[in-house]
Amino acid sequence: MTALDKAEALRRRKGGCPIAALTAYDYPTARLLDEAGLDVLLVGDSLGMVVLGYPDTTQVTLEHMLHHLTAVARAKPRAMVLGDLPIHTYATPAQALATARRLVAAGAEAVKLEGGIHQAEKVRAITAAGIPAVGHLGMLPQRVIEEGGYHKTGKTPAQAAALLAGAQALIAAGVCAIVLESVVAETARYLTTRSAVPTIGIGCGEGNCDGEVAVVTDLVGSFPWFVPPFARPEADTAAVIREAAARYVARVQGRASDPTDHAFAAAFGLR
Ligand code: KIV
Repeated sequence: MTALDKAEALRRRKGGCPIAALTAYDYPTARLLDEAGLDVLLVGDSLGMVVLGYPDTTQVTLEHMLHHLTAVARAKPRAMVLGDLPIHTYATPAQALATARRLVAAGAEAVKLEGGIHQAEKVRAITAAGIPAVGHLGMLPQRVIEEGGYHKTGKTPAQAAALLAGAQALIAAGVCAIVLESVVAETARYLTTRSAVPTIGIGCGEGNCDGEVAVVTDLVGSFPWFVPPFARPEADTAAVIREAAARYVARVQGRASDPTDHAFAAAFGLR
């Protein structure tokens, strides 16, 4: 299936079988998630936090994204590989297109960028070049410093109207889906009914969008130091890793401290 076929198949999921998307940042995770039947593997800039150890996504570079995208793409997933345009790489339509082309060359089949009306021209430049694009509205992690934290949005009629205007501008510019992040449930449902393309929610309450996306480390419990309040873990990988590592330490440190093989020493006349 070509990237454009995958984008069209995603678009057709509007109102149909809900879309299941997870982030992936490396080859083995991409393989495992693909085997589990995910529809979309998002190489999200959340990698800055849950893989690279930065406090937020604002220090993620294009080089970081390319490195991780290449690893995920090496898994040749059946799922769509979606790559985030990192901060400071899509200031103009020309820059957005150049960045999108770099992501595609690294293995992305579609690209995602944050923001509404002001990004429409950039989305148009990307989609006109034959590269599928996904929008991202609501809480925008790349603006977390200006916003003073992670807050729910879509709480007032004015906020809901601004989100709808953003969604309509992105759809007119050609996006095949829109991620809604931390939008209150009623507004997420409203945007979903008013959007011609699928909405994919995170932090909007499950079931209010045409699909869900989650950060894989939140799902499998491998990043226990920060778990968003809306996360619904299905595993506690951190506990498994800690336990295996502790057993290994005990195994290695618990063996005899004098490793001399006495039979070997006697055979060779050594002491
Ligand atoms: O980078 C990311 O993981 C994302 C999700 C929060 C949708 O953009």
